[in-house]
Amino acid sequence: MIPDTVIPQAVLPQGATVNSQGHLVIGGCDTLDLADEFGTPVYIFDEETLRQRCRGFVREFQIRHPSTQVVYASKAYINPALARIFAEEGLGLDVVSGGELAIAQSVDFPLDRVYFHGNNKTPQELAEAVDGGIGWVVLDSFHELEMLDSIAGQAGKIQNVLIRVSPGIDPHTHVHTTTGILDSKFGFSIQTGHAAQAIRQTLKAANLSLRGLHFHLGSPIFELEPYRAAVDLVIRFASEFREEGLDLQEFSPGGGFAIAYTRDQEPPEIAEYAEAIISTMSATCKELSMDLPRLIIEPGRSIIGPAGVALYRIGAIKDIPGVRRYVSVDGGMGDNIRPALYQAAYEVIAAGKANQELSQKVTIAGKYCESGDVLASDVMMPELESGDILAIPAAGAYCPSMASNYNLIPKPPMVLVRDGKTRLIRRRENYQDLMHCDVV
Ligand code: LLP
Repeated sequence: MIPDTVIPQAVLPQGATVNSQGHLVIGGCDTLDLADEFGTPVYIFDEETLRQRCRGFVREFQIRHPSTQVVYASKAYINPALARIFAEEGLGLDVVSGGELAIAQSVDFPLDRVYFHGNNKTPQELAEAVDGGIGWVVLDSFHELEMLDSIAGQAGKIQNVLIRVSPGIDPHTHVHTTTGILDSKFGFSIQTGHAAQAIRQTLKAANLSLRGLHFHLGSPIFELEPYRAAVDLVIRFASEFREEGLDLQEFSPGGGFAIAYTRDQEPPEIAEYAEAIISTMSATCKELSMDLPRLIIEPGRSIIGPAGVALYRIGAIKDIPGVRRYVSVDGGMGDNIRPALYQAAYEVIAAGKANQELSQKVTIAGKYCESGDVLASDVMMPELESGDILAIPAAGAYCPSMASNYNLIPKPPMVLVRDGKTRLIRRRENYQDLMHCDVV
C-alpha cells in the first residue's frame, strides 16, 4: 500500500505502486523507464484496470438484470487496439461519427452491438451506417428521423432505432456537460411534447423499427438521485404510448458515471449506479405492469478514465516571489483540454519522487501559447527540478480523444502496460503527420 498522503491511490490504476527507488510503477512498469522509452508526453493505459472496469460494469449490471448490454462510449477515447479489447470483453460501442464507426469497422467490431448517437448526424454518416449494417441508430431530431427513414428505404432495409428523449432533469454537473435538461441541443424534449410527436412519427415510418427509448443526463454525475428520477419518469412516459404501439424492448439511461479525479472525490461504486437504475426500472415497470426491457448502459469515462495516466517532463521553472511558482511541462492543453475547458482538477504526482514529502505548492503549466494552459493549480509537490517526470492520473478519458494540434505540437503516443510489458498502440505524431493533409 502506498501512503495516501503522498500518492492518491484512489485515482491511480489498480496495482499501481511505488518501488524502492521511489518511482511510480504502473502495470508493473517503472514510469521513469516508460518516459525514457516512449518519450514525453505519453499516455499510459493499464490494461488490467481497463478490462476490470469493463468486467465490473458487466458483472454489477448483469447480476441485477441479466438482460443488460454494456456499450462503451467511444468518445471517451477509442482506437483500433482498444476497440478490439472492448469487443473481447463483450461490450458494445456508442459511436457519434463516421470516424468512430470506421474504427469499429476496422476491427470487425460486431455491428449489432453498435449504437449511433449524435444531434446532427450527416446524410453521409447515416448512409454509411445503414449500408455498413449498424445495429442501432439513436434518433435525435425530426430532421434525422425523416432522413434515416428515406436512407433505409433506399437501401431496402428496416433500421432498428431508439429515440433519445430529454427528460428535463438536471444532474448537477458542469454546464458544458449537462445534456438532459430542457435547454439542450440533444434529444426530443418530453416537456415540449416533441418526444411524444417523435414516437408517433417513428412508429409510422415505413423503414424504421422503434425498439425503445434512450436518455443521457450529462457527465460526470456524482449523484444517484437524477438517475432514479429520470429512469422512473422516462419509463412512465413510455408506458403512455403502449396502446399506440410502443413496445419498450430496449431502454437506455446513457452513461455519465463519475470517477475520482482528485483524492477528495468519492463517486458512487458501479454497484450503486446499477442498483439505483435497476431497482427503479424494476419498480416502475412492475407498477405499470410492463415487461422489463433490455437495459443498455453507456459508460465511457468510468471505463477508460481510471486506466490512463499521462506522463510529462518538466522543463522551465519560474518563480514569481510571493505570488506563484510555475512548473512547465512538455504537454498541456493540446493533449488535455479539460482543465481549460471545464476547470477540471487533477492530482499530480512526481513520478520519480513518489516517496518524498510534499513540501511546496506549485502550479503545473503546459507549453501551449495560452495563459489558460494550466494543468493543475496550487498542487502540493516535493522539491522539483527540470527533467523530473510528472504523472497525471485519471487521464484516460476525454484527454487523448479531445486532443488537438494547437501550436502544431505532435500528439503523444499511447502505450498499454500489463505485467511489466508494454505495447505501443499509437505512435507519437511527427512533423510529416502535421503536414499530411496540406496542399502546397
Ligand atoms: N452516452 C451519451 C449519449 C453521451 O452523450 C455520453 C457522453 C456518454 C454516453 C458517455 O458519458 P461518460 O460515461 O463518458 O461520462 N468532454 C467531457 C465529457 C462529454 C461527455 C459527452 N457525452 C469531459 O471531458 O468531461
